[in-house]
Amino acid sequence: MSATIEALHPAHGVPPSGPRPDETARLEDFGGIEIADLDLSQPLTEAQRDRLLRTFRSHPVLVFRDQALTKDQQYAFTLNFGEIEGAHVNRLIDAKNYTPVHTVSNLDSDGNPSEILRERGNYYWHSDKSYHAVPSLMTMLHAVELPPKGGETQFANTAKAYAALPAEARGELEGLRANHSWEASRIQCGGRPATPEQIAERPPVDHPLVRIHPDTGAKALYLGNHASHIVGWPVADGQALLRRMIQHVQQPEFVYTHRWRQGDLVLWDNRCSVHRALPHEAMGVHRRVLHRTVVKGSVPY
Ligand SMILES: [Fe+2]
Repeated sequence: MSATIEALHPAHGVPPSGPRPDETARLEDFGGIEIADLDLSQPLTEAQRDRLLRTFRSHPVLVFRDQALTKDQQYAFTLNFGEIEGAHVNRLIDAKNYTPVHTVSNLDSDGNPSEILRERGNYYWHSDKSYHAVPSLMTMLHAVELPPKGGETQFANTAKAYAALPAEARGELEGLRANHSWEASRIQCGGRPATPEQIAERPPVDHPLVRIHPDTGAKALYLGNHASHIVGWPVADGQALLRRMIQHVQQPEFVYTHRWRQGDLVLWDNRCSVHRALPHEAMGVHRRVLHRTVVKGSVPY
């Protein structure tokens, strides 16, 4: 069954819950940073790379404006952060849907804009690939074609949200593990159920609900649409806790809304943030095309 924007977001352009773009924090107040003096299409010097990685360690979202990277250049820039995810890491072509530098868009198989949401989960808070035993470290999007209005990406700082919890609440979360599953994710966002083959391909995993950032030691909530329940708890109780924590995380002071401009390149740390896309106006008319790369992370602890 195909889903339309209206089915997902009854009031067009308004997410099912959570802050509207005009309610959320400025990038710097959220904990992110804009970097203005780098041309990412060129190889970085060692000093530039060191500074970039240092900045990434202490900021969950980095924003670069006015960039123009080919797919090869985006691939090369992404390598600064580690191993690139993708089944065909030696093939810089985009013939298949999922290549190391792949396209995120609202285009159908004929290349025309469409209101049909094929990746519904993108519109719900999530941390990329948290349903894998080794989830993603970093994700990067480079804006290629943008609609006139809407299509923002929202980020929530889950380290800041965790730190803001009362000490008693933090203590109650300590030691809990959440089950993450691609199947549950699809069900929770109303997508097509996974086939038995797909479930076998991506079996459920569990991760700590509070994970420690390997570089900074900071604790962050690790949750989102891929998380289905709490291990060892009655399913309904675990789902209720996860819903409460998402409500907490998406408070406007923890959220930054990125309003895309042509040439933007935005990258984020999946270990201490969750994100989601907002639909854009007239998705059946206007194109939204971004190039995406993802860097492999490590087992959460
Ligand atoms: Fe994502």
